[in-house]
Amino acid sequence: APKTIIAPSILAADFAKLGEEARAVEAAGADWLHVDVMDGHFVPNITLGPDIVKALRPHVAIPFDVHLMIAPVDPFLEAFVAAGANIVSVHPESGPHLNRTLKRIRELGAKAGVVFNPSTSPSVIEYMMDEVDLVLVMSINPGFGGQSFMTSQLKKIETLRRMIDATGRDIPLEVDGGVTPQTAPLCIAAGATALVAGTAVFKGGPGAYADNIRALRGS
Ligand code: DX5
Ligand code: ZN
Repeated sequence: APKTIIAPSILAADFAKLGEEARAVEAAGADWLHVDVMDGHFVPNITLGPDIVKALRPHVAIPFDVHLMIAPVDPFLEAFVAAGANIVSVHPESGPHLNRTLKRIRELGAKAGVVFNPSTSPSVIEYMMDEVDLVLVMSINPGFGGQSFMTSQLKKIETLRRMIDATGRDIPLEVDGGVTPQTAPLCIAAGATALVAGTAVFKGGPGAYADNIRALRGS
């Protein structure tokens, strides 16, 4: 099987040293940098905006996997892509026209991802698989790091795996929330190819990042 993509979530990094933290996880073997954007409205927490993404961009070469938890989302797509987002993932609930939003992300030059809250059904993308470049399954309710993995979402990962396979395209299937060395194998067995991890990567400080990432890959 191809190597699992590991995307550390900088939500769990030291926010006073974001550039250093990004460089440290890249050096430790991270494949993507997962950037959690929250507006205190779509989710009950506030994090960072496009200016911070832009400031971080020169620090690392790995793709920026930007997870937008903001509503309305459409007015901010351009700013995040301009800031250096390579993948932009949106929740279907964050705007009135998911299809239009996905097309817009591609027009701007980024890959378009769809994020599933624990209660969101896979069927929201049934008629627009051609517009989707990444699928992101939340295994927690979005808003905070450090929550426990919801095993109820494994069935959804399996369903989305089948939907992706039916397209014949290589669409990453990513899982976000409570991913640890214990829950990662469950995600991979269900069909995930990419794992987001905040707490499990950043615990123990920079000296531990490489081991933490290896533990998630199970190698
Ligand atoms: C939560 C974020 C996650 C979060 C994961 O809304 O989308 O990316 O940082 O954190 P852990 O890995 O600690 O569950
Ligand atoms: Zn996230």
